[in-house]
Amino acid sequence: MKIEEITLEKLNTETFIEEQCSDIVRQVGQGLAVNALSGGVDSSVVTMLGHRALKDRLKTYFIDNGIMRKGEPEQVASMFRKLGVPVEIVDAREQFFAALRGLSDPEEKREAITQTFYRHVFGDLVRKSGAKHLLQGTIFTDVEETVAGVKRQHNILAQLGIDTKEQFGYTLIEPLIRLRKPGVRKVGEALGLPRELFARQPFPGPALAARVIGEATPERIDLVREATAILEEELSGVKAFQYLAILHEDRVTGIRDGKRDYGHQIEVRCWDSTDAKTAIPTRINFDVLESVARRMTAEVKGVVSVTYNITSKPTSTIEAV
Ligand code: XMP
Repeated sequence: MKIEEITLEKLNTETFIEEQCSDIVRQVGQGLAVNALSGGVDSSVVTMLGHRALKDRLKTYFIDNGIMRKGEPEQVASMFRKLGVPVEIVDAREQFFAALRGLSDPEEKREAITQTFYRHVFGDLVRKSGAKHLLQGTIFTDVEETVAGVKRQHNILAQLGIDTKEQFGYTLIEPLIRLRKPGVRKVGEALGLPRELFARQPFPGPALAARVIGEATPERIDLVREATAILEEELSGVKAFQYLAILHEDRVTGIRDGKRDYGHQIEVRCWDSTDAKTAIPTRINFDVLESVARRMTAEVKGVVSVTYNITSKPTSTIEAV
């Protein structure tokens, strides 16, 4: 079935929210639904929509998959609790790392995360709770890129011919599927989400595993997590669509304390974009970049080289995996 986009110009947030809430209620009936909150814009908006529609018949989980940013599970859960939405953190770190073990191909990593998430972690939660529906924040761009074969977005299932009811035992509800990012933010604002949530930068479903080239081991994820924390601090004053740090698979010869240090390299990307479909590198002040490099080489163990991406999307994509 062809999905028709609702453009920003055509979007009336009040009508949209009303229609989506009635649709969620109609689909779930008197039953229960679950949803996964990651704290990203899309999942935050879906969580608010779901709660408006279903109140305590929606159970919200934060899946701690071990590949989120520093302190993210607790921060996100506490922000939502303050908004009156109870969130349960599920520790699934071992399951995700076991699934990622030995994988370095980007699409295989994405597939492993998808399977762990939908088949195992959510399959179990749905079975335990008795819910029949999973609400999730798939957006128009996710569908577009997956269908075009650019990148398999972790949350695309039906459009690839996957019957979730048959395979995983629950039906997906995707209220944001006709919107792009700017539309989702506008709905988030209308739903009363604080700016720090609806204006947040995008963060991919495969999380930091999308920012480690090659195998995403716990050690390599830790490394990119530290680099990401530094980058987010140093670039907090830069106006950009999204910025990220990537750990490369290749090592390079460096020099530390007058001795050879065969170390890691981090690539920094920072993007200007409106909808992630195309993007250009932000012309960041060089002093800011130098300070990022200084801190990463001093504070992230084994990093000897930091580079800045100067390629646009296309040919690059925003994430490295
Ligand atoms: P790419 O790397 O395809 O990213 O140029 C486009 C935008 O999508 C985000 N992204 C994802 N979002 N699931 C998501 O929900 C995914 O699997 C995924 N992969 C990439 C990326 O951060 C960028 O904003």
